Amino acid sequence: MDLNLKGQVVMIAAASKGMGYATALECAREGAIVSMASRDKQAIESAAETIRQQTGATVKAYTFDAGDAQSIKQWAEDTLRDLGPVKGLLVNAGGPPTGQFDSFDDDDWQSAFELTLMSSVRMIRAVLPSMRASGGGSILAITSSSVKEPIDILILSNVMRSGVTSLIKSLSQQLGPDNIRLNTLIPGKIDTDRLRGTNQAQASKRGVSVEEHNAQMAAQLPMRRFGDADEVGKACAFLLSDAASYITGVSLAVDGGLIKTVW
Ligand SMILES: NC(=O)c1ccc[n+]([C@@H]2O[C@H](COP(=O)([O-])OP(=O)(O)OC[C@H]3O[C@@H](n4cnc5c(N)ncnc54)[C@H](OP(=O)(O)O)[C@@H]3O)[C@@H](O)[C@H]2O)c1
Repeated sequence: MDLNLKGQVVMIAAASKGMGYATALECAREGAIVSMASRDKQAIESAAETIRQQTGATVKAYTFDAGDAQSIKQWAEDTLRDLGPVKGLLVNAGGPPTGQFDSFDDDDWQSAFELTLMSSVRMIRAVLPSMRASGGGSILAITSSSVKEPIDILILSNVMRSGVTSLIKSLSQQLGPDNIRLNTLIPGKIDTDRLRGTNQAQASKRGVSVEEHNAQMAAQLPMRRFGDADEVGKACAFLLSDAASYITGVSLAVDGGLIKTVW
């Protein structure tokens, strides 16, 4: 299937590794012009260079911090100036810290609000004028299975990502007439540094080794394994592309069957 991404400018947030990186790579393989960003200049430049070498695509690296309003605005302005109108945006950031209700004070809640919910608002706001002016686009936000089934040690993520889901659904209703589609992608347990970190925290809380914890977690999944970032990257590239031209307002789980709810 041709995703029709050739020559389309896509902005991929939090892309130096993990699912953001996998999405940038997949979009580049499909011929997109990629603007990828994260906080660590060296890491994002090295990631962009790897993708350029593997695909021959036009890939530019930028630094930004999802928790900082000005740097989000700057990344979008720089992309528009360097690469032209933006047709796709992957809303993504590092996850908020692990912990239960008693571990967090107001400052922690405020930081999670800025990092997860406000960063989504700001990234979307930054690309809308360009998408409207150029006849449409696709926005995809990475959330978590915690929006369907809250995760014990991720209360900040559970709450803030539910807000992101609602934001995306609301905007999918409002921006349809502008031919702008908005969806979320729900990763299950995807083998990245983030999952390794949360698994370590859960193993410590349970008093078992991380290897034992991982084996038990994988055994509970219908597909009996964690997912690869590449498997998420392919789904993200599809939803960002014109191949998904009539899909808006959905939450697509890429979770190997982890989520058990019917709806
Ligand atoms: N992996 C899973 O199973 C899973 C499941 C559900 C949800 N999630 C969520 O999905 C998102 C991506 O996870 P991942 O597994 O791909 O993580 P990852 O492999 O740890 O990669 C995280 C990426 O985010 C960037 N980043 C972190 N904080 C940032 C910030 N404040 N501003 C800009 N970039 C930032 C990092 O680069 P720099 O260090 O260079 O900034 C890195 O490129 C996270 O929010 C995570 O919580 C993951």
